Parts: sequence; structure tokens; C-alpha cells
Amino acid sequence: MSLLKTDFLVIGSGIAGLSYALQVAAQGQVLIVTKKAEADTNTNYAQGGIAAVMSSLDSVESHIRDTLDVGYGLCHEDIVRMVVSNGPEKIQKLIDRGVQFSKNANQEFDLGQEGGHSQRRVLHAKDQTGAEIERALLQAIKRHPNIQLLEHHFTIDLITERKINPNSNHPNQCLGAYVLDTVHNEIKIVAARVTLLATGGAGKVYLYTSNPDIATGDGMAIAYRAGCRVANLEFVQFHPTCLYQPDAKSFLISEAVRGEGGILRLKNGNPFMANYHPLKDLAPRDVVARAIDAELKKRGDDFVLLDLTHKPATYIKERFPGIYQRCLQYHLDITTQPIPVVPAAHYFCGGVLVNQDGQTDLPNLYAIGEVACTGLHGANRLASNSLLEAVVFADAAARCSLAAIGDIGAYGNTPLPAWDPGIAIDSDESVVITHNWDEIRRLMWNYVGIVRSDKRLHRAKRRIDLLADEINQYYWNFKVSADLLELRNLALVAGLVIQSALSRKESRGLHCNIDYPETKVEFAKDTVL
Ligand code: SIN
Repeated sequence: MSLLKTDFLVIGSGIAGLSYALQVAAQGQVLIVTKKAEADTNTNYAQGGIAAVMSSLDSVESHIRDTLDVGYGLCHEDIVRMVVSNGPEKIQKLIDRGVQFSKNANQEFDLGQEGGHSQRRVLHAKDQTGAEIERALLQAIKRHPNIQLLEHHFTIDLITERKINPNSNHPNQCLGAYVLDTVHNEIKIVAARVTLLATGGAGKVYLYTSNPDIATGDGMAIAYRAGCRVANLEFVQFHPTCLYQPDAKSFLISEAVRGEGGILRLKNGNPFMANYHPLKDLAPRDVVARAIDAELKKRGDDFVLLDLTHKPATYIKERFPGIYQRCLQYHLDITTQPIPVVPAAHYFCGGVLVNQDGQTDLPNLYAIGEVACTGLHGANRLASNSLLEAVVFADAAARCSLAAIGDIGAYGNTPLPAWDPGIAIDSDESVVITHNWDEIRRLMWNYVGIVRSDKRLHRAKRRIDLLADEINQYYWNFKVSADLLELRNLALVAGLVIQSALSRKESRGLHCNIDYPETKVEFAKDTVL
């Protein structure tokens, strides 16, 4: 079994992991492992942009207020202040690393508008902001002599002092991870002084999601199994507008489309958002998603329409080239036809509980980006705040890691045991994996979706408990594969979402339970598991 040694192990290759890697690499060797190809990340699919105060018409206080308002009383104000006030500096850092944001004719940043923002403050690269950030950061990573990136390396579990020496008097700590090289089907030990989880979210826990296939909640499950607390997993953000087209695999239609004047209409052409919120189409996302859900249920329709046809065709093609081209592939010309859209799971506001430096409960383990719950988003995330959170927390976690690393023993001090496959044999029934995967995603969509009830949540719990049991047995009996690892993680995260949702006996932000329609003062706190 191969043993790899590094100062910093970074798990995940999106904006959070790459930004952290670039900073800590000044003082040590960095190994980045990512489970698929290097750019198979949620970051790469982010369309809208990154929110920051970049205009003299805007202010830090205004961005803070918008974030707090959208978060329905659960944002941690100190964290909101930290993230928002660090925004402009971190944007400059991205630019220094080669990211090119769109500019207007006066060579000023073309600041976009999205729901819940009282000002234009969303920096973007047309409608492919995430891809531009990913491109620039990967290029910078490749130029760095201290950074190695291994694609197709799937982290199975963390190695902790407690797991390898259950009776030791040493305090528990993270010592690295077991990683499956999915190309050579080999399990490697990675010994690391510091480990960072930057694995993104868990959108694939739902049947319909804007997320790419990689978003299976791996980091949340890995951390929870290692004894870390997770928080606020009931707050799952559903993006109101994903393309309704069976072959499109949940293609997102950016909120920026509504920011630039797009109007939501019923199939009969009538606009409806004025019936739900004074901000109409630019109401906070939870309101828009629930409004669409209500209209679809009321009318038995499969989709609503997002109409941009009143804008000039040249403008649409220039501002939204990705969306324009992608829709054209399905014979939909968005300059002349409204876009059929439906809500889909988009973003996890909760995750692994961390402090202001991205430290988890397990010493030497950090978590940043969507995998983490930092306190920024509260009960609902303000659009385009997540890329900002990722870069601000990458910086905080990197500083903290660099300050701490001198006191962490050299890797290899503790001999790490090889992976023990036990009596596991090759699986003869892959169909179990596909079936269970499908069942989890369907039950989450039907019973733990945009609008919840206690009855549906209990039904979901009974089913997920059975499935989790079956998957666990399967995990111990058969040799691990990427599909099995994802299924195991997905089942654990689904169970944690249900448990969190059941414990919040109120409606707040993204968590809407028809049995408790009110927001209650006694629940103005995080759900910690
Ligand atoms: C979008 O482009 O609508 C997504 C932006 C975000 O989720 O922050």
C-alpha cells in the first residue's frame, strides 16, 4: 500500500481548496486530492458571481444588512462582518491570481444584481464566473513547485489518533486520510500535518439539483464519522430556476437573468411574483422557490416560464452566452422564447461546524467552502455570497494553519496502519447501489423538499434508517468503489438533513414546515448534531 506524506492535505479542488493551497504552499508541501477531474467542482458551475462591495454607491454596512436580512436571524453577525469587510481585498487577490471579471465600456467592473441585494454588487465573468475562477486558480496551482494535484483520488475516511490508538492518552487529532485511487483501484495512506476539507456540498442528495454529479456530501459525512459536529443541515437552498428539459441534467438559469430584468410568468403568460413579495422576481430565493412550487402544485403544471424576450437579442447573447448557447442546444432561442424553469436543490447553508478560522472540532482538521457551516448564511444564503465566503475563509484557515504547523509533529511520527479490507469481496450486485441511490434522492425530494411536514419527515426517517442499515452492511461486505463510497456518504447526509429538519419545530428561511408555519423565538439558534 502506498504511503504519501505531505504538510498540507487539501481534499477538493474548487475555489476554497485551491485558494487555501496557494496560500499555505509558501511554507510547505501541499497535496490536493480530488475525486474526479480537477475542474469537476461546484465552483466550475457557478454562473452568477461573487458578491463584494466594489462601488462608491455601495457600502459594507449595506452588504452586511442584506446578508443578515436574508439569513432570518440565524447569521452570526461577527462572521458576516468578517466576510463582507474582507470582500474587496480578497477580490483583488483573485484578480492578482489571474481571474478576469467582466467590465463595462468605462472599464469599471460590471456589477450584477441578484435577489436580496439592495445594490448592484455581484462581480461576474459573463455567466461563467465559476469556470473563470477555476481556470485561473488551476493555472496558478500548476505553476507552483510545492503543490501536487492528484485527480481521481477519492477520500474514504480521515485517519485520527483516536481510531488508530483508541486507548492512547494523546489528545485526538487528524493525521491524514485513506484515499482510493479510482483509476488503479488502490487505497493509499496520506499522512498529513494539516488536513483541509473543501469538498463542496450535497445537492445530489435530491432528485433534482443544479449541482454536478460530484456533490454527494462527502466532506460532511467524512467529518461526522470522525466525530465532528455538523450544523444547520435543514437549510437547503433550492434555486428557483433550473432549465426544465429532461436531457439537460439540471442546467441552472442564473438568478442574474432576473437581476437583468427577466420576469417569471405562468404558462399562460401572466407574471405572478407580485402576489408573493414586494421585490417580485428579485425576492429572496426561498420566497421565489416556494412561490413557484405553490403555483406548480396549484395548477398541476410541470414548469413556469422565465421571460427575457423583451431585452435586445444582442444584449442577451453578450451577457448570457453560456445560457444562450446551452438552451439553443435544446432548440430554445431565449431571445425570442421564454425559458421553462423549475426549482432544484442548489446549496447547503449548513455543514461541518467551524470557527472563524475554519477549524473543526478535530484538531488539525479544517473545513471551508460549502462543506462548512461558518455562521455566514444563517437560515438562507444571500445570492453570490458563497464564493466570497470561500476565499475569505481560505485566507483565515491558511493563516491559522501556518501559525499552528510549527507545533504539529512531523508527519510519520505516528505510524499509520494500512487500510484493512477485512473479509470484503468484490461486489456482485451493483444494482443495489443504483437502486438505493435513486430511492434516497427520490424520498428526499418528495418528503424533505421545499415544503415539509412532520408526517413526511417521519416517513423519510423510517425509510432512510432502513436504507442506511442496508448500505452499511454492503459497505463492510464488499470492496469499496467510488459509487459505494458516494452512496454511503449520501445516505448519512440525507439522514442528518432529516434529523435536523425534524428537530426544528418552526418555519424559518429555507426550512418551511406546514405543521409549524410560524417563526419561533426559542428556535433562533443553530441546529447542531
Ligand atoms: C446563480 O447564478 O443564480 C447562482 C448564484 C448563487 O447561487 O450564488
